[in-house]
Amino acid sequence: MNYINTAYLVASALFIIGLRDLSHPRTAMRGNILGATGMLIAVLVTLFAGRIIGYAAILPGIVIGTVIGIIMAQKIPMTAIPQLVALFNGFGGGASVLVAGAAFAEAVVLQAQITKQLAIATAISGLIGAVTFWGSLLAFAKLQGITTEKAVRFPGQSLVNIILGVIILLIGALIVIYPDELWIYWILVALSSILGIMLVLPIGGADMPVIIALLNSYSGLAAAATGFVLSNNILIVSGALVGASGLILTKIMCKAMNRSFANCIFGQQNAAATETKVDDIYTGRVKSSTAEEVAIMLDTARRVVITPGYGMAVAHAQHAVKVLATLLQSRGVEVEFGIHPVAGRMPGHMNVLLAEAEIPYEKLKTMDEINPTFEQTDVVLVIGANDVVNPVARTEPRSPLAGMPILNVDKARSVVVIKRSLSPGFAGIPNPLFAAGNTVMLYGDGRQVVLDLVAAIGEL
Ligand code: TAP
Repeated sequence: MNYINTAYLVASALFIIGLRDLSHPRTAMRGNILGATGMLIAVLVTLFAGRIIGYAAILPGIVIGTVIGIIMAQKIPMTAIPQLVALFNGFGGGASVLVAGAAFAEAVVLQAQITKQLAIATAISGLIGAVTFWGSLLAFAKLQGITTEKAVRFPGQSLVNIILGVIILLIGALIVIYPDELWIYWILVALSSILGIMLVLPIGGADMPVIIALLNSYSGLAAAATGFVLSNNILIVSGALVGASGLILTKIMCKAMNRSFANCIFGQQNAAATETKVDDIYTGRVKSSTAEEVAIMLDTARRVVITPGYGMAVAHAQHAVKVLATLLQSRGVEVEFGIHPVAGRMPGHMNVLLAEAEIPYEKLKTMDEINPTFEQTDVVLVIGANDVVNPVARTEPRSPLAGMPILNVDKARSVVVIKRSLSPGFAGIPNPLFAAGNTVMLYGDGRQVVLDLVAAIGEL
């Protein structure tokens, strides 16, 4: 028993060091390997030394899961990672419900002594696990476009949720009072499943990533509770780590959108989007340009800031962007990247893509670092970004983006926006930046336009 706990201690240490390493791009790869090694140690020790009744179900499960995992990892495009994460969270929650339920059922069938700890931990696993499973499935369906992506609200929704929550807590108490009645657990799971769906229904649009981070945290808490059911220390530790890190990420994301935690997770976003007519903003004001004209602007600039967004990911433009940045630097232009914390569709999306293209980390500036420099910037190149550079966030209190800190690219001397059309971004609202006096549009697919710019600069 001692060597099992020693191995679990080593695995826990690896998780914690791995998490610390993950907080910086330079050490993130090592952090990932350390975390995975910790998990391998934990799984192997559990499989070989744990209280395993038989391998007949476990081995096929590992084989099938591995095959599905490899296929998914290869097939899923980068832009669909948020849905994938939602599914992973959901499966984690579902597994907690089933494992805790099975351990509880075993204790009931064997008429073992059911302690208060076992009953309480099982109720918590069932509650959080079922909320996570069904909430995550709905989040997946929303992000995948299977159901409406919009927030679904109806009168009295919060009241219904509160009543449901209170009933579930009372049923949880019944599990502790009547631990031999297994069916009460499944009633709790059924009602918690409804609660999971109810909690995600009013979330939509830009709040989806926040709820996914929160569900990630829930999946960890459910696993930790299951750890108490099984008296398994490593499950308690790893679950608590996932729970805490998911919660921290949720908070960081709410802060990046200038929203309170409660406002994000109860879906109280400023739903009344502005009714501003697209024509009023754009007609007669939008100027388009050509690669040749922009090439001259860039070549004569002293300082250029590139602000990428979701469109860069869609266009797979990161490698072309690296070529452009290197070319400009070789011609004496200072080039930096301004990264918005929620640019793209997942936390760190732009950092991952630009790191993949081997753009040095020192060139990637956070929003707080880059914003004070825009006034001294000759040209900002907005590549496939929209919401994160929309000045409406500063000026229009009724906008869905109201209060979200943005990259203040409009303060630069000139702005070049690369995108295919005037279509809105994730928040679905027009962007007055495109019609600003110092902005020109360079229409086209992000990758192709950047390659055209490289060719045009080469010909100067
Ligand atoms: P968005 O506001 O979504 O705008 C992306 C723009 O890219 C679109 O307007 C689109 O315009 C353009 N685009 C698409 N494909 C392109 C291509 N092949 N080439 C060039 N442009 C292309 O992106 P953003 O500024 O990065 O903002 C992110 C938004 O997503 C925020 O509202 C954020 O809250 C939300 N969100 C963030 C996350 C995280 S955690 N990062 C997760 C989910 C949602 P065209 O169609 O005209 O080309």
